[in-house]
Amino acid sequence: MSKLEGQVALVTGATSGIGLEIALALANAGAAVVVNYHADREKGEAVVRQIEERGGNAVTVGADVSREEDVQEMFRTAVETFGTVDILVNNAGIQEDVPFVEMSLEQWQKVLAVNLTGSFLCSREAAREFCRRGVVSERSRAAGKILFISSVHEVIPWAGRVNYAVSKGGLGQLMRSMARELAPEKIRVNSIAPGAIKTDINREAWEDPGAAAELCKKIPYGRIGETEDVARAAVWLLSDEADYVTGATLFIDGGMLLYPSFGGG
Ligand code: BGC
Repeated sequence: MSKLEGQVALVTGATSGIGLEIALALANAGAAVVVNYHADREKGEAVVRQIEERGGNAVTVGADVSREEDVQEMFRTAVETFGTVDILVNNAGIQEDVPFVEMSLEQWQKVLAVNLTGSFLCSREAAREFCRRGVVSERSRAAGKILFISSVHEVIPWAGRVNYAVSKGGLGQLMRSMARELAPEKIRVNSIAPGAIKTDINREAWEDPGAAAELCKKIPYGRIGETEDVARAAVWLLSDEADYVTGATLFIDGGMLLYPSFGGG
């Protein structure tokens, strides 16, 4: 039996980058997947087709995760379609880089609304469903699992991106406090904090060979990450193989957090 056979996973921002790779990997592991998109329905449908062509089961649902009504409607659709939700991956996230003194209130609020409030709204709906249903032992030892896609910038301060770093710092406490509160309900809550992974969000940092070489100076392991590096770990964390893991942040960053500039002693 595949690791996630019979389970239902909802992945936010699942039409590109890390979210897309995780959606495909969860489907591969046997989960039915709710593929969330923000604006581009066709992209969502293309991901569903990709999953179906490999013999999986998926549906796409549009929602702006920062809007309460959208999120509630998305969970209603998920439950109507597949009966319940077992797994939530809070992946949807944006960057809006701007020097601190020039940052508008709108730029501050927009990034926090998607990255932090969006994760709160989705997690609350998921946790409500997990509490309602409880453990179904044929599917999983947990009543539900929530995974946040955070960032090394949960810890590393980031000049020119204060809004983004604050949103990821906030995810750390959201994750740990939820993990504490929901453990007695048999709900596991964890984070993956990726470093530099090749996706559209940081294209300018790796597309040009000079920029990529510069970026690699910050990565002791010497290569830029691939979305598969994150997706493989996500499947493990969301499966019963990680049943005793809750409240943990798994940094997947090629050593970016190891103070690379001290490599020479
Ligand atoms: C950001 C990327 C960046 C990486 C490492 C991620 O959270 O979204 O743009 O390359 O952190 O700095």
